[in-house]
Amino acid sequence: MQDQLNALKMEMEQAVAKAKTPADLEAAEIRFLGRKGALAELMKKLPSLAPDKRPKMGALANDIKRQLEMLLASRRGQMEEKSLSRLAETERADVTEPGARPPEGHLHLMTKAINEITDIFARIGFVRTRYPEVDWDWYAFESLNMPKEHPARDEWETFFMDAPPSKMGKMVLTPHTSNAQVRELERGEFPVRMINIAKCYRRQMDVTHVPMFHQFEGLYVDQGVAVTHLIGVLEYFAREFFGPERKIRLRPHHFRFTEPSFEIDISCGVCGGSGVTADKQKCRMCKRGWLELGGAGMVHPNVLLAGKVDPRKYSGFAFGWGVERTYSMKEGLKIDDIRTLYKNDLRFLKQF
Ligand code: FA5
Repeated sequence: MQDQLNALKMEMEQAVAKAKTPADLEAAEIRFLGRKGALAELMKKLPSLAPDKRPKMGALANDIKRQLEMLLASRRGQMEEKSLSRLAETERADVTEPGARPPEGHLHLMTKAINEITDIFARIGFVRTRYPEVDWDWYAFESLNMPKEHPARDEWETFFMDAPPSKMGKMVLTPHTSNAQVRELERGEFPVRMINIAKCYRRQMDVTHVPMFHQFEGLYVDQGVAVTHLIGVLEYFAREFFGPERKIRLRPHHFRFTEPSFEIDISCGVCGGSGVTADKQKCRMCKRGWLELGGAGMVHPNVLLAGKVDPRKYSGFAFGWGVERTYSMKEGLKIDDIRTLYKNDLRFLKQF
């Protein structure tokens, strides 16, 4: 048995010497030292030896096993070292080399526009507010002097929520930011100087309309507020946002919640206000050089009353403009289809 043990030892030493990879070492380990390996098989014969020889043979087997395990461990260590040094040769890192810049995104154009609009109005004391974007019919329409079934509501092409109505009517996805007007008046703090910027929803889609868009709604209510204040604020905004070259104009209009009412147009930035593009085509963004950005007017007394404000004491103005349209008219941008803003096409978005 002693000879068999020594032969096994030699055989395994040769296998370890020949091993090229850690997997070869593992195979040798299993073959010789595994639970069903050669050494274990030999040990099964131990009980058949003369009792006085058993302890000697047992001790020799253990000794050989320990030696072989040490041999395996040292060979494994050598292999590991070698592979690390090979790695160092091929993949040496120069820590002084400038790193690769991870791809960096930026805020969406509409978020940038909203931040800019907020800042412009903050400079003249308008505070940004937040009101629900899913609201009751009362705030979206009725308190704004638009009774149920009034045909003026049709223009707002509203999405209704499938939720149980309350005494304030049905729930709607806000079709404009004017739902904030009465909510703000109800706070009863004067002067009111609100800028409400929020999402709006309408069943509309073409080059100047998207079904989800943003508006910014200004509301200023105090004693002695006149239409000249309104014009001053709008001109201030247009100058700050578009620069001194562009013109705005007020057109008489009708809104149920303002009296008098206007629509505000800006001279078109796509065709330079001529109505005709460089390739002699009719500009598809504007109407004869002007693009409507929003509505405005003096707050209707019925709206003040709905907000529990005395129209004999207070007056005010309100305006509501579309963020997408306003932004697309920024100097030099020439976005001729506002749907592009929401296509998430990186070739477009990366230009800004
Ligand atoms: C209103 O929504 C009024 N609430 C504005 C207002 C507020 C008037 C306060 C008086 C006082 P209008 O429906 O015209 O008005 O919309 C205002 C602006 O929102 C439009 O001029 C346009 O810039 C933008 N807008 C409206 N619908 C869309 C749409 N589907 N996609 C993109 N922008 C839109």
